[in-house]
Amino acid sequence: MDNKFSVYIETYGCQMNLSDTEIVSRIIFNAGYEIVDTPKKANVILLNTCSVRENAERKVNERLLHLKKFKELEKPVILGVLGCMAERLRSRILEKNSNVDIVVGPDEYRKIPELIQNAFLGEKGIAVKLSRVETYDDLEPLRKEGISAWISIMRGCDKFCTYCVVPYTRGRERSRRMQSVVDEVKKLCDEGFKEVTLLGQNVNSYKCPETNSDFADLLRECARQVPSMRIRFITSHPQDMSDKLIETIAEWDNICKYIHLPIQSGSDRILQLMNRNYTYEHYLGRINKIRSLIPNCALSTDIIVGFPTETLEDHQATLRALKEIRFDGAYMFRYSPREHTKAFKMVDDVPEKEKIRRLNEVIDLQNKISKEINLGEHNRIHIVLVEGPSKKDKTYWAGRTDTNKVTIFKPGKDTAVGDFVKVKIKNSTSATLFGEIVQ
Ligand code: 5AD
Ligand code: SF4
Repeated sequence: MDNKFSVYIETYGCQMNLSDTEIVSRIIFNAGYEIVDTPKKANVILLNTCSVRENAERKVNERLLHLKKFKELEKPVILGVLGCMAERLRSRILEKNSNVDIVVGPDEYRKIPELIQNAFLGEKGIAVKLSRVETYDDLEPLRKEGISAWISIMRGCDKFCTYCVVPYTRGRERSRRMQSVVDEVKKLCDEGFKEVTLLGQNVNSYKCPETNSDFADLLRECARQVPSMRIRFITSHPQDMSDKLIETIAEWDNICKYIHLPIQSGSDRILQLMNRNYTYEHYLGRINKIRSLIPNCALSTDIIVGFPTETLEDHQATLRALKEIRFDGAYMFRYSPREHTKAFKMVDDVPEKEKIRRLNEVIDLQNKISKEINLGEHNRIHIVLVEGPSKKDKTYWAGRTDTNKVTIFKPGKDTAVGDFVKVKIKNSTSATLFGEIVQ
């Protein structure tokens, strides 16, 4: 049989999945298969999926229906589901979608080439075992050219927030070796990358399996050994936001002054029901520490509205928290019950209409705050890493500040992708800064 498969991968969900797609691409490439950029050119179509909210799964199900047309062509086409949905639904995916041939969970990606081969011989396959050790540490992700790269430094999550499916779909927490991460940053620097984002469900509970170094140690080593690299990281958990980590971020210029620190709710009662393991006061203490050591640090957060039993009073506590802390930005969600989680057994008692109302209230408040904060940026100068022409108007270019704000500006004659330029901010919206290059 012709061994030359052409594989197209589509990615849904978080950055972790985008990074996993690069790992899967490496595995497929090493097996001698070709990676293509449209489903039309492919005889293997893989969807790397997300389960975090019902909406994410709905999107993938709709896509699977749509992809049916590729299965009805003359040439044989293999359809695969990877990632969190594969792990969560397992054989149910094959039962529900007769078009799907392979189902592969996040810790079994090494088996994909073999599963593809078998599928072409007519055998459907499932590989969904979770692992306590798999970190794909030895595999260099197959990245597209660019200036900004993701590096997964850990996999899984042990926190078991009661609403969250991730500990079930991605398994136990495990970290890569520090040396291997630092080496990867060095190599990316040699290849011309200017910025890396260290990724994990809880980056700040990182622990090197070889040396026991923690996340602050890892950040420091990356920053020290590769001083020209901009270093970002997501996502941090408030429980593990140590003084040492905050001091390390403050100390090194090339560690970005931007922290994403999900609060989820401003109500202690709801935080406890969510098993978040902190109170609002503790959270606020971390924010105050960050702001005292890193005065211009940008902060963003995640909010869930309408968690089981959330009262108007709890909701008010969340609004109060947003007003008191004044985040630069927030990702805001309606609670979505997920099978297997603890919260799934609680009564989902906030009516959908009320969830939407609360969500809109939170979004409106946060937009107003983001807008006000960005007004305060006017006439300040930021160092922007140039990403290239802006999507809306190609005569303008886009980049990001150290604080992770998208900035639009007119390029100079010599401005090139990957340059660091000084931009004086002249205008803004709640989500974007606009400015001019200054010398
Ligand atoms: N419903 C709504 N939002 C959720 N998140 C995680 N699980 C759920 C759920 N069941 C949100 C949290 C988390 C972000 C990645 O997604 O805010 O921080
Ligand atoms: Fe989910 Fe909580 Fe783990 Fe984040 S920390 S992945 S919300 S269980």
